[in-house]
Amino acid sequence: MTASPAAPWRATVLTLFPEMFPGPLGVSLAGRALTGGIWSLEARDIRASATDKHRSVDDTPAGGGPGMVLRADVLAAAIDAADVAPERPRLLMSPRGRPLTQAAVRDLAAGPGPLIVCGRFEGIDQRVIDARELIEVSIGDYVLSGGEIAALVLIDACVRLLPGVMGKLESGTDESFSDGLLEYPQYTRPQLFEGRTIPDVLTSGDHAKVAAWRRSQSEALTQARRPDLWAEWQTREQSRTGQKAPKSTTDG
Ligand SMILES: C[S@@+](CC[C@H](N)C(=O)[O-])C[C@H]1O[C@@H](n2cnc3c(N)ncnc32)[C@H](O)[C@@H]1O
Repeated sequence: MTASPAAPWRATVLTLFPEMFPGPLGVSLAGRALTGGIWSLEARDIRASATDKHRSVDDTPAGGGPGMVLRADVLAAAIDAADVAPERPRLLMSPRGRPLTQAAVRDLAAGPGPLIVCGRFEGIDQRVIDARELIEVSIGDYVLSGGEIAALVLIDACVRLLPGVMGKLESGTDESFSDGLLEYPQYTRPQLFEGRTIPDVLTSGDHAKVAAWRRSQSEALTQARRPDLWAEWQTREQSRTGQKAPKSTTDG
C-alpha cells in the first residue's frame, strides 16, 4: 500500500440526515480506508443551525407552488459553522448542476476534499447558493429525494482514487473513463460457462495481442454505447496525434 498523505482527504457533509453517513462508505475499500485514516468524514446536521423553537429548516416557496424549500439563513449558518478552509471546494448536490465526470472526480480526489451540501424538499433557497458560492453538481439526469445518496456516490468515486485505497495502482487507470473510453469486457475462470468460452486471445499469453484486443473492444463499445464520449475521444486523439483519429477497429 502507498503511504497515506500527511493531511488525509476529507469530506464534510451538511445534511438533515447525518445518520445516512458513512452508510455504504463504511464497508469494503472505502470503509477500510476510512478506518485506516486515508480519508475522514464529518456529517453535520443542518438542523443544529435552526434557531426557532421548532428547529425548522424549511418554509413554503416564495411565489407559491408545491413542497418546501430549505431556508437560506439556516443553511448559511450551517455552512459557516462547518468552518471549512477556503481552498476546499464547496459543492451542492443538485440535479441542475454540472454533471459529475471521472475528470471532475480526479480533480476532487487530488485536492483537500470538499464540503458537500445535501438538498432536500424542492431544493434550497437560491440566495445561499449565490452568497456561499456553492458549485452545483449532478450525478445524473434524474431526480433523487435528497442529496445524500448523490454525496455518497461522489465521495465513493473520489475515495477509491486516493493513494493506498485500491490494491493495485493500475485498477484506477485501466478502467472506464480513465482514458475517455469505456472498459473492455472482463472474463475469469471457469474457461467454459454455459457453453461460452473466454476469447482465445485472452489465454494466448501474448500481451501485445491482449492489449490490442482490449483496445479494439473499448473503442467498439464506446462507439456503440456512448457516441458522445466517442466523439470527444476522437477529437482528443486528433489533437494529440495531429492526425485524423482512427475509426473503431470494428468499422467496415
Ligand atoms: C427532490 S430534489 C429537488 C429537485 C428540484 N426541485 C429540481 O427539480 O431540480 C431534493 C434534493 O435532492 C438532491 N438531488 C436530487 N437529484 C439529484 C441529482 N440528480 N444529482 C444530485 N443531487 C440530486 C438535491 O440535493 C436536491 O436539492
